[in-house]
Amino acid sequence: MKNKKLWGGRFSKKTNPLVEEFTKSVQYDYNLAAYDVLGSVSHVAILKKAGYLTANEAKKLTSTLNSILNDIKKNKFKPDLSCEDIHTDIQNILYKKAGNLALKLHTARSRNDQVAFSTKLYCKDALADLQNEILILATNIAQTALKNKKIIIPGFTHLQHAQPVYLKDYLLAYVEMLKRDDKRLGYISENIKLVMDAGALAGTPVHSKEYNTANTKPVENSLDTVSDRDFVIEAISALSIVAMHLSRLAEDLVIWSTKEFDFIEIDESFCTGSSLMPQKKNPDVLELIRGYAGRLYGNLVSVLTMMKGLPLTYNRDMQLDKEPLFNSFEIVSSELKVLTGLMKTLKFNTDKIAEHLEDESLYVTDMVYYLVNKKVPFKEAHTIIGKLVKESADSGVDIKKMKQAKLNEFSDKLVEKEIKDMFDPKKSVESKRSIKR
Ligand code: ARG
Repeated sequence: MKNKKLWGGRFSKKTNPLVEEFTKSVQYDYNLAAYDVLGSVSHVAILKKAGYLTANEAKKLTSTLNSILNDIKKNKFKPDLSCEDIHTDIQNILYKKAGNLALKLHTARSRNDQVAFSTKLYCKDALADLQNEILILATNIAQTALKNKKIIIPGFTHLQHAQPVYLKDYLLAYVEMLKRDDKRLGYISENIKLVMDAGALAGTPVHSKEYNTANTKPVENSLDTVSDRDFVIEAISALSIVAMHLSRLAEDLVIWSTKEFDFIEIDESFCTGSSLMPQKKNPDVLELIRGYAGRLYGNLVSVLTMMKGLPLTYNRDMQLDKEPLFNSFEIVSSELKVLTGLMKTLKFNTDKIAEHLEDESLYVTDMVYYLVNKKVPFKEAHTIIGKLVKESADSGVDIKKMKQAKLNEFSDKLVEKEIKDMFDPKKSVESKRSIKR
């Protein structure tokens, strides 16, 4: 019975080895091992209720399945790469341990629903783990924000100096994104219904009420159950959004770590060097996080494209959802972990940041409000300050150095000593009263 296939009765020829190699999935779907066994445990309970297994048979199969599960959990399980897939592998192990009784397990079951069920279980577990890792990073960023709550940095639009903002608010923007990611993964997990048993496509001879158990529900539509991969697509798309958020954070940190910005110091233990240029301390971790977002989108597009032309119901193409799915979870999980470590060691160069804050353009919007508070209509104030900025750029004289006579050329509401006081980052951020502090 070694490596017996789950099919073969109607075949008189041996499968061509090229076909075996080409069609197998065990080299990656071994990630489903534990979930396949858990599905089988539920299936045994259903078969017992339906009268296909005696109480003793069910007990023996359950305890054998649990011993396989234990080995998997203790990392003692090595997939047999000569098998077609993990479901075949587990069936073979069960046969070795439980003998002919194992041959009854496949009653009222097909790999089509086995694959769907175990992939759903895998997704639920992997989503929960990832939610946890997202919250760890979010907490970590929030702590970094609070630790540095007094620091003010230039805020950007179009990557041009816009207005001063608290570093804390900048970092907490990423916390908001991660909170939404966490929620999104939660919805997706909730939406995954653990239904049994669709059979190959047409249902099984077991009455639907038997499928109403603690872990499983009866199928709504068995054709849909075996041919649905929406949950895989939803998971990868939510993971793509996480990866996009992490990529943006990575990009901000890359920019901030340049000589030109010099806002931050990334700890050496999170940087890499150059084989040629001895002075280099490169943010490769962040660059890879940026780059991996592309891999996630590729994974998403690959599954969407694989599904789009498939007639109902199961088609072998669907086996190809596994690598993109596993790969997406692996990448995002390692990104979250490495970013958490990097954030913990991040240092902010307050002196350098203060130099950047001397740029007058950061306070120009405040000057518009200054005039608005003196009852100048907004549009008019905007034009006056715009002209003042042009004068400063053309003449090379800072606005804060302009004399009253000069200011009067633009508006008699501009008072020299009030204007001088406006280039204050703290005053600027504190004047924004719409933000809860
Ligand atoms: N390894 C296959 C998969 O992941 C198993 C399903 C095979 N089903 C079939 N009807 N040939 O999709």
